[in-house]
Amino acid sequence: MSARPDKTKRRGVGDLAKGGVPIVGLTAYTAPVARLLDPHVDFLLVGDSVGMVVYGFDTTVPVTVEMMIAHGAAVMRGSAQTLVVVDLPFGSYQASREQAFRTAARIMAETGCTGIKLEGGAEMAETVQFLTERGIPVMGHVGLLPQSVNAAGGFKVQGRGRDEAERVLAAAIAEAGAFALVIEGTVEPVTRAITDAVPVPTIGIGASPACDGQILVTDDVLGVFTDFKPRFVKRYAELAPLIAQAAEAYATDVRARRFPGPEHCFGVR
Ligand code: KIV
Repeated sequence: MSARPDKTKRRGVGDLAKGGVPIVGLTAYTAPVARLLDPHVDFLLVGDSVGMVVYGFDTTVPVTVEMMIAHGAAVMRGSAQTLVVVDLPFGSYQASREQAFRTAARIMAETGCTGIKLEGGAEMAETVQFLTERGIPVMGHVGLLPQSVNAAGGFKVQGRGRDEAERVLAAAIAEAGAFALVIEGTVEPVTRAITDAVPVPTIGIGASPACDGQILVTDDVLGVFTDFKPRFVKRYAELAPLIAQAAEAYATDVRARRFPGPEHCFGVR
């Protein structure tokens, strides 16, 4: 029997340190991918980007709590050592701090994840404080907020002309007890000002190296999601053509009766 991975050594939120070697984050949605990423990252985010890269929605808005629980539980089963954080999806936490607590507690109980992430600035500070005081580790998310894409009129880079506002919003979340802050799609001077102002690690995505760490969407990194490529993405592999080639080769073999061969069959005389 193969040894089961030791899940007692999973990293906690306190292992994300500010300053020093940059923190490495990636998104994950499935157990096999989580298993592959687990040894290489400081944390995995089960992002609501799952709605766009896995379910094919145009935005993250249609993602449900049930989807996040299914993918969060899969990532927990697949990973052994890394910190796992699960996104609260749109509409599951903004109504009240009590709604946020119920959703976060359910996601943590049903997935086994260590913390949750929610989007928003100063307007979420009271909610962040309510959750952290009740044992829920919260990662904040400021700057470009994908769940507010409809109100914002699109995915727009943040911080041009309202630098002070971004810094103050981020500080409010940090002071409310968030253990880390994702800064998305924000100009470098604002990112730098936030990172200097808050006592917790900042994790950038499209927010320059002025952060304490970086995160990218894994399907972007692997070149699996090819609908569009934001400027801030660096592809470390181009898997989409490999997948298409494999599918084409399989289809050709089946149609030519080259697959399955004798080595793939049972009881063939
Ligand atoms: O949903 C997600 O993947 C995210 C990252 C972009 C930070 O929130």
